[in-house]
Amino acid sequence: MDRIFLSSPHMSGKEQQYIAEVFESNYIAPLGAFVDRFEASVSAYTGISHALALSSATSGLHLALRVLGVGEGDYVLASSFTFIGSVSAVLYQNAQPVFVDSDESWNLSPELLKKAIAEAPKKPKVLIVTHLYGQMSKMDEIMHICREAGIYVVEDAAESLGASYHGLQSGRFSDMAVYSFNGNKILSTSGGGMLVSDNAEWIAKAKFLSTQAKEPTLHYEHRTFGYNYRMSNVLAAIGVAQMEVLDERVNQKREIFEYYRRALGEIDEITFMPEIPDSRGNRWLTTITFKHTDPNRVIEALEAVNIESRPLWKPMHLQPLFAEALTFEDGTSQKLFERGLCLPSGTNMSHEALDRVCQVIKRVCV
Ligand SMILES: Cc1ncc(COP(=O)(O)O)c(C=O)c1O
Repeated sequence: MDRIFLSSPHMSGKEQQYIAEVFESNYIAPLGAFVDRFEASVSAYTGISHALALSSATSGLHLALRVLGVGEGDYVLASSFTFIGSVSAVLYQNAQPVFVDSDESWNLSPELLKKAIAEAPKKPKVLIVTHLYGQMSKMDEIMHICREAGIYVVEDAAESLGASYHGLQSGRFSDMAVYSFNGNKILSTSGGGMLVSDNAEWIAKAKFLSTQAKEPTLHYEHRTFGYNYRMSNVLAAIGVAQMEVLDERVNQKREIFEYYRRALGEIDEITFMPEIPDSRGNRWLTTITFKHTDPNRVIEALEAVNIESRPLWKPMHLQPLFAEALTFEDGTSQKLFERGLCLPSGTNMSHEALDRVCQVIKRVCV
């Protein structure tokens, strides 16, 4: 039987045509018109004035922290329930992560955020908040708390491109945000990311740092060091074609979620990831928790018939790497991790493929 993947790339059909245009122009590198077009399309879609195409979301977060002045010993608050790419940049800057647990939304708990700010031995400079699996965090409360405390906020919207809250796109609520276009995201350029902000100066500074911090002289002059983080024109051509189908992909992801909910929603054992009021997640992955069933049994049963599935992210405060990190937790994300599962959610999956997944889950759970 064909393998069913968690979320494989799904091309629109226009990518090769745009790549051919790149080849015709010979702007394979370093930059070119498609980089500008890709940035403009993300900016137009999200309503965020400035966008910078990069090699990854991880590099975008690194640039964001550097632009916001995070350095050695600074405290950076972060969602604990996330992927390591959210917080690697805190370590790149020799700063200290302070992890905050989730609440019933599965995303960052505003109550624990308040506690962390009140009790941290030093005022944190920045909060990195992740919209997990494409579902929006409680941004009204989170922004209110951080604005009062004078803490910058960066949205890790790597998984949530196309998700909205009060009708505004994820990434629009904070000081800066990143999107990811890696291999399994809702849109893929094979690898890539985008840093966005309404602050023109910050994006200009991030652009300067992303291309080796070259001073505007003909010879190469450097007053500081930068990185090689820009996206190539070839990948940006893929990105432009992918952006044309973003609405379609969000609708498809949401249909997949509804398909699973119709098929499995009656099983008392299973709970689906919630969606906070007045939000519309992109349902990047359909995720569930089990009351009693061991998720590893389900993963094994699916793998036995060539279906890929994954546990939920292991919270950062439970990672050996962060054993010493300051954490404000109440066991919520640990429970989710122990009880949860990501289901195959590729927008190129057929109903037959979805049925194959549901049959296995029903067999193991009922
Ligand atoms: C929540 C989250 N943050 C950050 C990243 C890093 O993105 P990238 O692979 O583009 O660096 C990812 C995905 O890999 C992610 O899921």
